[in-house]
Amino acid sequence: MRTPTWTIVLGAALAALILGLAFMQAFGGWTRDGVLAGAAITARWAFPWFIAAWSASSLAKLWPGGWRTALLRRRRAVGLAFAANHFVHLGFVVAAVSQFGETRPLFVYLAGGGAYLMIAAMALTSNDAAQRWMGPKGWRLLHAMGGWWVLIIFANSYVARLMAKPAIAGPAVVLIVAALGLRIAAAVKGRSQAQAA
Ligand code: HEM
Repeated sequence: MRTPTWTIVLGAALAALILGLAFMQAFGGWTRDGVLAGAAITARWAFPWFIAAWSASSLAKLWPGGWRTALLRRRRAVGLAFAANHFVHLGFVVAAVSQFGETRPLFVYLAGGGAYLMIAAMALTSNDAAQRWMGPKGWRLLHAMGGWWVLIIFANSYVARLMAKPAIAGPAVVLIVAALGLRIAAAVKGRSQAQAA
């Protein structure tokens, strides 16, 4: 039986909320450190969902069949789950900024805020009606731009944390490089198949 999309999305977001609250509690409760721990763990939880959605088509193109094709078929659910998870991150971020005076440079608010607008736009257009309304070109452009935007922010966030948090940031950077490698390999395969046809 196929798990409904809403079950996957709500389940993932609920897990994000529970994780965030548990880390907040473990690192000081409703304090600056506690809320920052909630923000960090929710970003960590959202990250693999994003990488899975972003790499689904490359994996299925390189090695069709099996779990790769199954992942591609459920890409919409995985992408929506990432969006829901990352809005839980935003909740902790808003709490840190508004309640505990946490600040970031303007650039972070612009790049991060822009990413959230893109994530919202991608989530709202992740349905058949919006796909038909936008047409394949417009839809693909929005989702390609949004995907790259989010990838770049994850890359920037984790590269910046390589020294301070190597155990978390190291594997995350390896995963990002691997996802980029898959994209390139899938594009090369697609091009050589098109030439052969
Ligand atoms: C206005 C937007 C945003 C703000 C103000 C913000 C702020 C924060 C804060 C306060 C933390 C936790 C404290 C820390 O470790 O520094 C954090 C962690 C993080 N955020 Fe965000 N964030 C924003 C958007 C985003 C977006 C759009 C992404 C990814 C696409 C992202 C990815 C991350 C990552 C990867 C971490 C580190 C998690 C870890 O330590 O493992 N954030 N962010």
